Amino acid sequence: MFTRKVTFQIILTTLVLWVMHTPMYASDAIEKQLTRPDLTLFTTWYADPTTSMVIQWLLYTPEHEPEIIRLRWQADDAQHWQSLQAQQAPFPKSKLTRYRVELTNLEPDTLYRMRFGYEGPIYTFRTAPKKLTDKLVFVAGGDAGNWPAAVQVSQQAAECDPLFAVLGGDLAYANGVNVDAWIVFLNNWRKHMLRSDKSLIPLIVAIGNHEVEGSFNKSREMAPFFFNLFGPYFPDTTYNAMTFGNYLQLIMLDTQHISPIAGEQTNWLKETLQKTPPTYRYAIYHVPGYPSHREFEGELSQAVRENWSPLFEQYKVPVVLENHDHCYKRTHPLINKKPVTSGFGVVYIGDGAWGGEIRDVRQTLQNTLYAKTQKVNHFIQVTLTPQSQHFRAISNTGDVVDQMTLTHSNAK
Ligand SMILES: [Fe+2]
Repeated sequence: MFTRKVTFQIILTTLVLWVMHTPMYASDAIEKQLTRPDLTLFTTWYADPTTSMVIQWLLYTPEHEPEIIRLRWQADDAQHWQSLQAQQAPFPKSKLTRYRVELTNLEPDTLYRMRFGYEGPIYTFRTAPKKLTDKLVFVAGGDAGNWPAAVQVSQQAAECDPLFAVLGGDLAYANGVNVDAWIVFLNNWRKHMLRSDKSLIPLIVAIGNHEVEGSFNKSREMAPFFFNLFGPYFPDTTYNAMTFGNYLQLIMLDTQHISPIAGEQTNWLKETLQKTPPTYRYAIYHVPGYPSHREFEGELSQAVRENWSPLFEQYKVPVVLENHDHCYKRTHPLINKKPVTSGFGVVYIGDGAWGGEIRDVRQTLQNTLYAKTQKVNHFIQVTLTPQSQHFRAISNTGDVVDQMTLTHSNAK
């Protein structure tokens, strides 16, 4: 006799391909399985990652009032549990309720335990350190979805024991309408994005075309799932910066899915970059300025190069993480669209193949600009120490595709 867990897995497996290619609302078959918080339980950050954590999950609540749920938590070495009632909101286009607990005033670099109610399994999460004293690892990529390669890449990424994962758009491939794509995505993330100590790996995001019904130049209403889950981090705009102590800042940008590239967003980018930088600072967004598959003269790629690249150069952003093209690429250090052999240059790494179907590298690609290209599913492991920043692209089968080390001075 099948257990409920096995039944859920069978239904998921059966529906994955259908889900990925069929625009729709929700199917009862998948929704009805969400009777336990842990199936879609995931963590993210809206505020200071050293002292806060956001925990969210989806539950099937067809007709009745959603159940009130209290989440209990404690530091790993604490004696007593604390508890908080989860906020509730309907999850769009479904019979699901999204539950959220936002914990603040936590201790940096600390493992916390949490559980639902007084019994049942215990889950853990870790806050970010206040200072970069030794080594810090995070993983980056984009264009994930629910294809088999996405699961393989997540499994490889989790093996790096990252503090967090940052995805630059095209997360669940829900296109603003497909609830089931989000259910499957979160279930896969829950199952595979665990550190060796089994703590949940927080998901930080930027927006991509597959978050939005209509892809480009749309309103927030056309990306209902994205804002239901990540809206408090993007309350007024679709770009923001996340700062970790004095050592790391991630700048998430929107390649015109909702916010135009030129104008207000570029002005905000300049103001953000003008502020005193932490030790390391990177930008991440969806459509590449230096594409590996699509046309170099694509309208949005040109807009990225014309509006943002001069700022990355002026304010010395050493590495920019791009996505959307489903290949691996690394450019040479570039200034004014040309490679530099000495001194500072901006390196563009990508191009979003966490799980999406990989594509051919463009035949007419200008080899003088690109140091490495390859048609391969991969993620990027970033290892920071006070002295250096190391980037390693790892494939879905665990092979090292490419690597690059920059000294600390490259970040200044
Ligand atoms: Fe995309």
